[in-house]
Order: sequence, then structure tokens, then C-alpha cells
Amino acid sequence: MSIAGETGASAFKWVPGAAAIAREAGAKLREYYAQGVETEYKGDVDLVTVADRAMEKLIRTRLGMAFPEHGIYGEEGTRERLDAQFRWYVDPLDGTTNFAHGFPQFAVSLGLEQRPAGTAPDADGTLVAGVIFDPMRDELFAAERGRGAQLNGRPIHISSAKELAEALLATGFPSRKRHASPNIHFYQEFTLRSHGVRRAGSAALDLAYVACGRLDAFWEFNLNPWDTAAGILLVEEAGGRVSDYAGNKYRLASDEILASNGAIHQELIGFFVDMFAGRGLAPIPTPREFAEQRLKRA
Ligand code: IPD
Ligand code: CA
Ligand code: CA
Repeated sequence: MSIAGETGASAFKWVPGAAAIAREAGAKLREYYAQGVETEYKGDVDLVTVADRAMEKLIRTRLGMAFPEHGIYGEEGTRERLDAQFRWYVDPLDGTTNFAHGFPQFAVSLGLEQRPAGTAPDADGTLVAGVIFDPMRDELFAAERGRGAQLNGRPIHISSAKELAEALLATGFPSRKRHASPNIHFYQEFTLRSHGVRRAGSAALDLAYVACGRLDAFWEFNLNPWDTAAGILLVEEAGGRVSDYAGNKYRLASDEILASNGAIHQELIGFFVDMFAGRGLAPIPTPREFAEQRLKRA
């Protein structure tokens, strides 16, 4: 199917150009993936490969050709025309750890923010377009503000789950300062209260999956704008809601993201409030306690 056909080019303004770039980068990622690539460490367990850097370079070049007046802010260091009215947030490879291990869950993510003249450097503009491409499944998720969200050219919508007890959730864990993350407690609590919590390793795809109803909600601490910009717009355009853990408007610099189908959002916020206050937490048995239980059962 053509790019025009699959992305509704007649309605979408920026998506067709961005989709072509994401597809080109995605096809190259598949080649690297098939060959296997060496891994370097950016820190702790924060991995980077030649594919991350080469694809950011490719995407920067292609965006510069397709949208010469737009700025670019990429994970691997690209900072171009940051005073422009439009800015692309680029994650050339979201899910590097999966990619490096041969686990087929990763994507290219391109999100476009409109920043009218006078927008303060630390203030958000408006997300206006987003494309997330999964090259292993050939799935292209796309959205523009006010024009809906699509998967391979077909409209997508959030799920109809009404309560946490019937929800499938996703989260992720940081690759830097892992010891400082409290997320294991939230993982435990939401696992006990839902159909389960997936940790598939690509925040962009997690958000895209909330948008198309495969997941009912997603949360994570300490993500960056290149991880979230495209996915946030997808969720909102598919009928969902995105906020911080207190229900405040999500900001790109926020340390917390909660995205859901909207129907279960308030219930999730209630649990976050309780958990941060230390209420209703189910204690996690220590390995030693488990060992004692095993002995008693034997
Ligand atoms: C990572 C993935 C992962 C999330 C990490 C991100 P990267 O992005 O989105 O799912 O848990 O927090 O850093 O490093 O593979 O682009
Ligand atoms: Ca990422
Ligand atoms: Ca990345």
C-alpha cells in the first residue's frame, strides 16, 4: 500500500513525509537487526549501538530535506533550529536494549511540536503530529491534532475497559539511576489489581498500544520528550487521556507519564495518590520469607 493511501495523505499534513522517513529508517533497522550489532554503554545499563546513531543521522538529513524550516531534537544529540516554530522530537530507535538482544520490540518515533513565536524555552508548545513505526510488524501508527489516529491507514481507538480490574497495563524501568526508582512498588500494586502489567521495553510502542486499545494504560517515570511526543498525541487523538500521576496536564519535561483510555484514568490516579501516601501497599515477601514458606510446604 502506498504511503499516501496508508496515512490518509489527503487529511494529514505532516504525517506522509514523516511516515516515509520512519519507514526508511525502520527498513535499515531491520537490516542491522538481522546482521547483529555491537553494543556500547552510555552509562549503567543504558545501551547504544551503531544503528541508533546512524538512524538519527539519516532521520536528521531526511527531516531537513522534507521540512527545512523545522527544528530537530534527537536522543543521540541532534539539536537544530531550536528557535523554529516547529520542532521534531526524534527517537531513532526506541527499545535499544531489545534490539541489541534480538528481542523484536522496537520502533522509530517522530513527534512534531508547534511552538509559536515567544514560547519560552522551558514551556511546551502543542503536539501536532506523531509517527511511530514498528519495522518488525510493519505497523505504522500516525496521528495529527484534530485529524485522528491511525494504524496502517485505518482509524484506531482506545479500549473500552471500565475499571482497573479488567485492564492490561504496561510500564518501563529506567536504564540510569536504577536504584533510585520506586517503580517496582507500583509494578507490584498494579499487577495485583489488574489483568497484568507488561514491560515490553519500548515506551513509544507502549503508548501506541494504548492508542489502539491493545493496552488500557501505561505509566513510567523519567521518560524524555523523544520517547513520548508522538505517542502522547496518538493516545489523545485515539480518545484517551495523558497526565502526570496527580492528573495534571502532562508536560514534555515531566518526570511522570500516565496514559490511559480515559475511563480508568481517575481510578489509576487514586491508586497513585494512595501509594505515594503509603496507603494500602501489599508487602512484597523477601526471598528469605519465600524460602521459609517453601520449607513449610515441603
Ligand atoms: C527506552 C525504552 C524503554 C523505557 C526506557 C527508555 P531507548 O528507550 O523506551 O521502554 O523503559 O525508559 O529509555 O533507550 O531504548 O530509546
Ligand atoms: Ca527511547
Ligand atoms: Ca532511543
